[in-house]
Amino acid sequence: TTDIILDCDPGHDDVVALLLALGSPRIRVLAVTTVAGNQTLEKVTANALGTLALAGAEDVAVHAGCDRPLARELRVAADIHGESGIDGVTLPAPTREPREEHAVDRIIAEVMDRPAGTVTLVPTGPLTNIAAAVRREPRLVERVREVVLMGGACRGGNVTPAAEFNIHVDPEAADVVFRQDWPLTMVGLDATHQAIADEQVVAACGGLGTAVGSAMADLLGAFRRNYRDVQGLVGAPLHDACTIAELIEPGLLQTVAAPVAVELQGEHTTGMTVADLRPQAPSDGTTRVALGLDRDRFWTILLDALARL
Ligand code: BDR
Ligand code: CA
Repeated sequence: TTDIILDCDPGHDDVVALLLALGSPRIRVLAVTTVAGNQTLEKVTANALGTLALAGAEDVAVHAGCDRPLARELRVAADIHGESGIDGVTLPAPTREPREEHAVDRIIAEVMDRPAGTVTLVPTGPLTNIAAAVRREPRLVERVREVVLMGGACRGGNVTPAAEFNIHVDPEAADVVFRQDWPLTMVGLDATHQAIADEQVVAACGGLGTAVGSAMADLLGAFRRNYRDVQGLVGAPLHDACTIAELIEPGLLQTVAAPVAVELQGEHTTGMTVADLRPQAPSDGTTRVALGLDRDRFWTILLDALARL
């Protein structure tokens, strides 16, 4: 099994990522840490707790983290995720509270207290917590197994023509994370826009006949409507779940080695991930960029895991 810390901002697709991780016997969720992004820290933390309640996994600890980006004002994604962060779905009331320990402290302790090379960080929101953690404890870099993050894009953004949301919200944090010398896979829009939930997927979730299945059907229904209205897409990309699916079945994503720089200054390009895909580009040896994924396998992996919850 792969031990992960899911650092998230639920968020419809963060909820799917968490359910996928909980439903897979190949993944063990050591902790869920939350960060302000799709909605305020308070809301996304409540959504994480509600998701664990839905999955009957309230023994997994939730730690709230940074409530704003390192250097900028928080910009939430209420257009895509609604006022609650997961509009359209009602989760069971959690019976647990978030733990007192700050997410950044938990990330550091979890990685440093376990054997080197055993903990995978899976950030699916702005990179504020991860940047803060690695600044406070630089030895994280050699201790984590790898970082598999949802964020960025090579061929055009979503919140701006150039930038993807998670990077655009906190580009300074992303810059810190991408500059570290740790194995990092950037799962950006180039790959995640190949995991578009269509009507058949919604029906398959509903057909599971479980509380998780019907919550998923509601969630995907609302997410699809918002994506159609805001971005004109025919379905909803399940961005964040692509990270977990790759950990469940390595090789699901098509990746290439490429150094990535984060644009911090551009008038039109702030938050852009500039991946050097030129054939002669020197690899930095540690960063990989996902450019595609095996769609059929993705849906099989997801539905298998959901059926176990
Ligand atoms: C990313 O932004 C958020 O809205 C989603 O949860 C995902 O992490 C996609 O750009
Ligand atoms: Ca997210």
